[in-house]
Amino acid sequence: MIQLFHVYKSFGGTPALRDVSFRVRKGEFVFVTGPSGAGKTTLLRIMFGAEKASSGHILINGINLGRIRRKQIALLRRRIGFVFQDFKLLNNKTIFQNVALALEVTGANPSYVRKKTRQALRSLGLIKKEEAYPLQLSGGEQQRVAIARAIVKNPLILLADEPTGNLDPDLTREIMVLFRTIHMKGTTVVVATHNRELLKGTAIRKIYLEKGRVIKED
Ligand SMILES: Nc1ncnc2c1ncn2[C@@H]1O[C@H](COP(=O)(O)OP(=O)(O)OP(=O)(O)O)[C@@H](O)[C@H]1O
Ligand SMILES: [Mg+2]
Repeated sequence: MIQLFHVYKSFGGTPALRDVSFRVRKGEFVFVTGPSGAGKTTLLRIMFGAEKASSGHILINGINLGRIRRKQIALLRRRIGFVFQDFKLLNNKTIFQNVALALEVTGANPSYVRKKTRQALRSLGLIKKEEAYPLQLSGGEQQRVAIARAIVKNPLILLADEPTGNLDPDLTREIMVLFRTIHMKGTTVVVATHNRELLKGTAIRKIYLEKGRVIKED
């Protein structure tokens, strides 16, 4: 589903990713972990086509990201849910609208959009906040909106960047259960985190990054 071959990325002179190669199979659940600045966000952004690799190749669902046009990237992104580390919610739209928009752009009909949006909000405990605006919510609530928006379209791939960074331990557990449920339904899931609690005692595959390199896997 996701294949990286010798991917390098640098910003100006500083390398953020160095010779990163790995493969995530369809339906797999993978953690990408490592200290702050290791390159986790950069890696996820590259998989999403939001950032171009300096060299190397990336295949997503058989599509070579180095070769495709902007329009095809937009189509591919409809099938990828992305939870941004900094949420990227639209502050002038309600919670309902923020989540619904992710489905509307796929051309889904309004009644389906309404049903699925409510379902996603409910599964994240946000239904009472649907008419609120992002800036009226706590950090943890905004984070859950970002997750609702990423999962509402039943994506082929879910990329989540530090999705529990603002949540307390109970909510963190709930989000992990939610991600496992989504995974069980067949979605390929990649979660970037430096939260050791999240990684503890799970049989899920882990890719460790340090200074832009994959240092180990287990
Ligand atoms: N747009 C950018 N311009 C310049 N440097 C960048 C940019 N984005 C990332 N970097 C650099 O690339 C390196 C990796 O950053 P990245 O955000 O991928 O790390 P991270 O593992 O996600 O860290 P964190 O755990 O703090 O989120 C860092 O040294 C960072 O300063
Ligand atoms: Mg990051």
